[in-house]
Amino acid sequence: MKKKVLSAVLSVAMVASLLVGCGGAADSGATTDAPAEEAPAEDTAADDAAADDAAADDAAADDAAADDAAADDAAADDAAAPAGGGKVGVSMPTKDLQRWNQDGANMESELKEAGYEVDLQYASNDVQTQLSQIENMISGKCDVLVIAAIEGSSLGEALDMAKDAGIPVIAYDRLLMDSDAVSYYATFDNYKVGTVQGEYVKEQLDLDNAEGPFNIEFTAGDPGDNNAGFFFNGAYDVLKEYIDSGKLKVVSGQTKFDDVATPTWATDVAQSRAENILSSFYSDGTNVDVWLCSNDSTALGVENALAANYNGTYPIITGQDCDIENTKNMIAGKQSMSVFKDTRTLASQVVKMVGQNLTGAEVDVNDTETYNNNVITVPSYLCEPVFADANNYKELLIDSGYYTEDQLK
Ligand code: BGC
Repeated sequence: MKKKVLSAVLSVAMVASLLVGCGGAADSGATTDAPAEEAPAEDTAADDAAADDAAADDAAADDAAADDAAADDAAADDAAAPAGGGKVGVSMPTKDLQRWNQDGANMESELKEAGYEVDLQYASNDVQTQLSQIENMISGKCDVLVIAAIEGSSLGEALDMAKDAGIPVIAYDRLLMDSDAVSYYATFDNYKVGTVQGEYVKEQLDLDNAEGPFNIEFTAGDPGDNNAGFFFNGAYDVLKEYIDSGKLKVVSGQTKFDDVATPTWATDVAQSRAENILSSFYSDGTNVDVWLCSNDSTALGVENALAANYNGTYPIITGQDCDIENTKNMIAGKQSMSVFKDTRTLASQVVKMVGQNLTGAEVDVNDTETYNNNVITVPSYLCEPVFADANNYKELLIDSGYYTEDQLK
């Protein structure tokens, strides 16, 4: 019963948040409003950044609130290409994961609609390929570069070339690290993605009242992706007090980001680690109550491992992206939730940024403190993530036109 009421509340909140759109000023989602537990983080390299992020959240949200109405009015004008048009290079990491295909397609169509020429490239998750694709975009005289990096710190050479050529660089979704050649960053609030997952687990298990203990395992993302630490820390910071008190037991003992990370976010890597954990710690009939996965590709690996190697009570499993396969699993009860990051809103925001860059208009940002790339703090625009589950996916994903009903069959 409690579960149902919670879901209903969250559904309403979610849809409200969706209507507000990117950078939702109303910040109305019950989940997204949940304050991060600011327990001192001690486990990962990204801890400081994550803590700063939590601190910056409120200010950023307030700024966004004040700015949004005005920004929305200006949006249409800003997105339009300047009189002479312009060429935009869009570098995406891989076609292997659904989300980047959507991001690339959204960017391409929105940019074309606004009057730009577009050079869209996917790099097959190969850093050298991404480097040379970007270099070609520069020599092909792109006016702006939009880059979702495979590995945030490996594109220095190409970024230097862009800077020398006077080409603004917008980091898309993932921060470009170790370079002063990054002009802007547009992403979702990555720390909040993690807190939404942690809060979901907290609510579902009623951790403040239930006796427990509950068993939990973590699966995080790619150490080469600056986002991965934010996601993990956001979730961990919410759950830490319960882990410390013993209400949540990490049976494998693996709580450090480096131990639970998944290079390249690969499903098969997450699957084999989950298989090892299940055979080492759960083969005696011990139940795993929660598997906190940072995103959908890793959740899928865990779900595959559970299907083949586990007979206990099915755990709460978190994810991110609302990939089609994972959404189907949510509907089938094999995944509990997924954080929904509407790639359409991120693409619109970035197209707006491109226009603002090229016309010399003021660039719309709502966070100037959180995302330090080891050289500079990159002015950022953070969109709001929301939460999807089997109860609200119809409103969130189908009614909004993100998927058709047939795609989820
Ligand atoms: C993105 C996530 C995605 C992951 C794997 C991250 O940088 O923010 O949405 O699941 O990469 O592609």
